[in-house]
Amino acid sequence: MPESRRQLDDTLGVLLARRKSHGRLRRLSNAPPNSVDFSSNGYLSLSTNPVIQKSLVSRLESELANSENSNALRRRSILGSGGSRLLDGNSSFAESLEAKIASFHNAEAALLFTSAFDANTGLLSCVPQPGDVIIYDELIHASVHDGTRMSRATKRIPFSHDSISETHQWRCSNGEDGHVGHQNKSKSQGLDDVLKQLSGDEHVMSSKSNVFICIEGLYSMDGDVPLLKKIVETVDQYLPSGNGYIIVDEAHSVGVFGEKGNGLVCKFGLENRIWARVLGFGKAMGCAGGAILCSSITREYLINYARSLIYTTSMTFTSLSSIDVVYEYLISGHSEPLRQHLETLIGHTYLQLHALCARLHPGRRTLYIEKRPSKSPIIPIFTAHPRNLAEHCQRHGFMVRPIVAPTVPAGSERVRICLHSANTPDQIDGLCDAIGMWVQSQMATEKLQLSKQQHKQITYGADVVTKQDKPRL
Ligand SMILES: Cc1ncc(COP(=O)(O)O)c(C=O)c1O
Repeated sequence: MPESRRQLDDTLGVLLARRKSHGRLRRLSNAPPNSVDFSSNGYLSLSTNPVIQKSLVSRLESELANSENSNALRRRSILGSGGSRLLDGNSSFAESLEAKIASFHNAEAALLFTSAFDANTGLLSCVPQPGDVIIYDELIHASVHDGTRMSRATKRIPFSHDSISETHQWRCSNGEDGHVGHQNKSKSQGLDDVLKQLSGDEHVMSSKSNVFICIEGLYSMDGDVPLLKKIVETVDQYLPSGNGYIIVDEAHSVGVFGEKGNGLVCKFGLENRIWARVLGFGKAMGCAGGAILCSSITREYLINYARSLIYTTSMTFTSLSSIDVVYEYLISGHSEPLRQHLETLIGHTYLQLHALCARLHPGRRTLYIEKRPSKSPIIPIFTAHPRNLAEHCQRHGFMVRPIVAPTVPAGSERVRICLHSANTPDQIDGLCDAIGMWVQSQMATEKLQLSKQQHKQITYGADVVTKQDKPRL
């Protein structure tokens, strides 16, 4: 290998070693076979749903049969799409699927992207113009951060997650300190304060500058939802001329909330108040890809300017079909029993975890569960020892993952439980038993450490006394 290449590897090696020394090295891993899935984002277990799988296979078979019967020039590929959407990658199938998606979510138009990541970067990198402002929840997904960085907006301002979180509001009104476990308090201002300051800006007031407000419909690390109605009211209050444009990333909330799973915005009937929604099909929807719900003119603008749409190969027939069969399933109402079952499992999990805390009284650094049972299938278990707890659960056959900084703010590390419709109450009981065992052994270790420390202090104290008692020479 040439010397220059070796030098680069050396540099990268040093960076990796540094990351490792901070306990932040990322590694690819496979879930052990037969472990119970409490980790993936497929909340409705649709990707393994036999009805959906069969209908996808039969779609592909009939497409193949059609293709075999047509002449070679008219054959459609089920493998690749043929290119960018703007060149050879478009199809009437993609367009009709977009119309179906828009109608299901009560939106004027929809535009497909190969992932929700691309949808976010495409949207944010091209819509805000010089002079505009993007304000975003400090805990927003990485793709929004990247899109924001790529954009030509003049200002980019974070606001504190606590200021828009339903869970936080509940904590405050129930006398909790709004300070979960061992985590640090946010350094960002609240949404109100950020908007108040902006409303004093002459360009914003005269609507020469637009303000884009980015939030998520369900936060994948905390499992909490935003106070959507309140956010809309706050934006109206400070930006009364209507130049505040709210973007809701529904990657995790689509399929989970709203009628037949049409999302959080639809659940609150705020379709006309939210400027754009980003959908992700890789979570509850059980497949892959993303879409933006927006006005027809915004859709046309994105087709012209969103680089993550223009300069990439569009979705294949197979991907489009998988999204289509999942939408058919939701539209027909078949997912409703799955959602109801998921809700029962969520309630059961909180009951078990709260019972465990009431029985063992772990300190906040050992284990902390939000007091308020949420309706979200994502349940964070705050602990100062996330890797240790996750490894323990994995050894007992339950796949959960530690979530550590920088994915979440330092001091708010956790193990995340993701529930799925295919989980059973017995599996949840098994997981909670494993967590309980870990808590007991952790508490025993902490007690031992404490008594060793106290012993040392006593010995050290005796030393001091001896020294002090020594007569001066
Ligand atoms: C909130 C949010 N938005 C966007 C994405 C990106 O989704 P995709 O996997 O479709 O790129 C994710 C994925 O983790 C996410 O959590």
